[in-house]
Amino acid sequence: MRILQVGFGTVGQSFAELLSNRRDDLVSRFGINPKVVGIVDSRGGVIDPKGLDLEGVLEVKRKKGTVGAYLDKGLKGLRVAEAIKEVEAEVMVESTPTNVMTGEPGLSNIEAAFKEGLHVVTTNKGPLALALPALAELAEHNRVHFLFSGTVGGGTPILDFGRKCLSTDHILAIKGILNGTSNFILDQMEECGCEYDVALRKAEEQGYSEEDPSLDVDGWDTASKLVIMANWLMGREVTLANVEVKGIREVTREDVRAAARRGRSVKLVGSIADTMEVKPEEVDWTDPMCVRGVMNAVRFTSEFAGDETVAGRGAGGMETASAVLRDILEVRERLARG
Ligand SMILES: NC(=O)c1ccc[n+]([C@@H]2O[C@H](COP(=O)([O-])OP(=O)(O)OC[C@H]3O[C@@H](n4cnc5c(N)ncnc54)[C@H](OP(=O)(O)O)[C@@H]3O)[C@@H](O)[C@H]2O)c1
Repeated sequence: MRILQVGFGTVGQSFAELLSNRRDDLVSRFGINPKVVGIVDSRGGVIDPKGLDLEGVLEVKRKKGTVGAYLDKGLKGLRVAEAIKEVEAEVMVESTPTNVMTGEPGLSNIEAAFKEGLHVVTTNKGPLALALPALAELAEHNRVHFLFSGTVGGGTPILDFGRKCLSTDHILAIKGILNGTSNFILDQMEECGCEYDVALRKAEEQGYSEEDPSLDVDGWDTASKLVIMANWLMGREVTLANVEVKGIREVTREDVRAAARRGRSVKLVGSIADTMEVKPEEVDWTDPMCVRGVMNAVRFTSEFAGDETVAGRGAGGMETASAVLRDILEVRERLARG
């Protein structure tokens, strides 16, 4: 299987490391030998139809900042659209930054790949939050597979659990703590008794928060994940416009203290029932969904199985790369099944 990687940051590089370290294991356990034949970042690309030396490319990226500087095969200024047309690959792994306002550049990358007949595995929530129903239709129209396990819960198989383990059940509702940064901030407010601004600074110091934290703390990251789950697991055709969103900026130290007196923690909770909403809510300490730090937890309520909670680390380069690899194996299985 030949892979074109678009985006070579934390997730993209972790995926390349994972492939490089696990090559023997992938051949012996799964009979698959994936070859990365092209990689593109924001400043250039590198192409080798025989398969790139991933360790060499990772070193160049670390030292020179772009894969376009790779020896004789690097192409400075190579654009994603050109790579999609030129590189002969079966799968595109898309891991460019999430933009929930426009979906770009991921949206155009994914559409272009579908049109060229490439299967797509993405970790980018932006295009899905804005246009998942349309993208799923376009994939079907072009007879390609479209998988995105890493968009919800990082490496924790939340989408896979809902889709596969509950395939014979009927999911009635989903509720979850889906944003590690907000959870860390609220946790700090509870543990140290500090106000929101101080807890946000701690999240920044520990590298859990972006320079612009609004995607996390204003609830849009959680809302995007709800949209993905509602479409993919519950068959609803919804986008971000259907979610009522309230973040955690107005949560005070007193709110957190009052909740603690009742044996509860304030959490940023995303829920899908008749409607979809994101808002701070009190969660009982005995509830398995009451996870700490940057953990994620999702409770599925289904007709026959009742309540089940899946919890795990919600982000991280290697964790998310493992979800990408799962999706690649799934594409291979689906192709084998015809
Ligand atoms: N990190 C996580 O734990 C995690 C977990 C789950 C999902 N995700 C999602 O996965 C995606 C990637 O995350 P990340 O942490 O790897 O982000 P990142 O470190 O910021 O990497 C983004 C990559 O995309 C490249 N890029 C940006 N604009 C581009 C363009 N126009 N054309 C080609 N390449 C472009 C960047 O190029 P340069 O290298 O040249 O800057 C960089 O290589 C995001 O959508 C994120 O929300 C991340």
